[in-house]
Amino acid sequence: LKPTIFQTDEEIVQAVVQKIKALLESKKEKIVLGLPTGSTPLGVYQELVRLHKEENLDLSRLVTFNLDEYFPMDSKNPQSYTSYMFKHLFDHINIDKKNIHIPNGMIGEDVINEYCQEYEKQIEEAGGLDLVLLGIGRSGHIGFNEPGSFFDSRTRLVVLDETTRRDAAGGFFGIEKVPKLAITMGIGTILSSKEIILLATGEHKALIVKQLIEEKASRKIPATFLHSHPNTHIFLDSSSAGEL
Ligand code: GLP
Repeated sequence: LKPTIFQTDEEIVQAVVQKIKALLESKKEKIVLGLPTGSTPLGVYQELVRLHKEENLDLSRLVTFNLDEYFPMDSKNPQSYTSYMFKHLFDHINIDKKNIHIPNGMIGEDVINEYCQEYEKQIEEAGGLDLVLLGIGRSGHIGFNEPGSFFDSRTRLVVLDETTRRDAAGGFFGIEKVPKLAITMGIGTILSSKEIILLATGEHKALIVKQLIEEKASRKIPATFLHSHPNTHIFLDSSSAGEL
């Protein structure tokens, strides 16, 4: 994996948006995206909203699958990834609402396996993922695939790492309020995408970025499984690349 290091966040945003625009310019009827939450992709979502509003960028052919959601989590809760996605992107663009898929954090635990299989089936029926955008957690997670995740894992219920819950504590007003579980696309689901872009910005990501780039693929750092994907791009700013 050879990272691309950008001087400014704005350049990263433009590089990602160009990829999405290129897909939209292709003849494909539907463009299927895997989308992350967190602070890293916010600039990309803002730019898509701007392009839609100011330059009439047509996003009606997008079909989206979010990577993950806390469990249990009411989608109406402001801390849910559903709320995040509508607030930062979906409420402001012309995506057909029936083409939005976000794991349901209120699904009954007794039917969760079937539900996760159904999520995989929906991805397949949409034609498979064209592009997955990823952030990276300081535990090495992509989506919520924490250390220990298998390279062929699929959408499932997972237990969150302590580091991950600590990093999320601010948004929940205390670590004890951060859910202990989540539903996430698997590593295998992510690797099934035709193209993958992982974004990492800021000094606090420098150590995990170093491990991602320099260590060989292992379950200790699930993001390293991206090494086996032939069409993965790692976009960094100079701070997150600081340890390379
Ligand atoms: C979260 C999400 C990930 C995200 C990561 C990094 O917990 N589940 O999908 O990539 O952590 O978040 P941030 O971009 O805020 O650093």
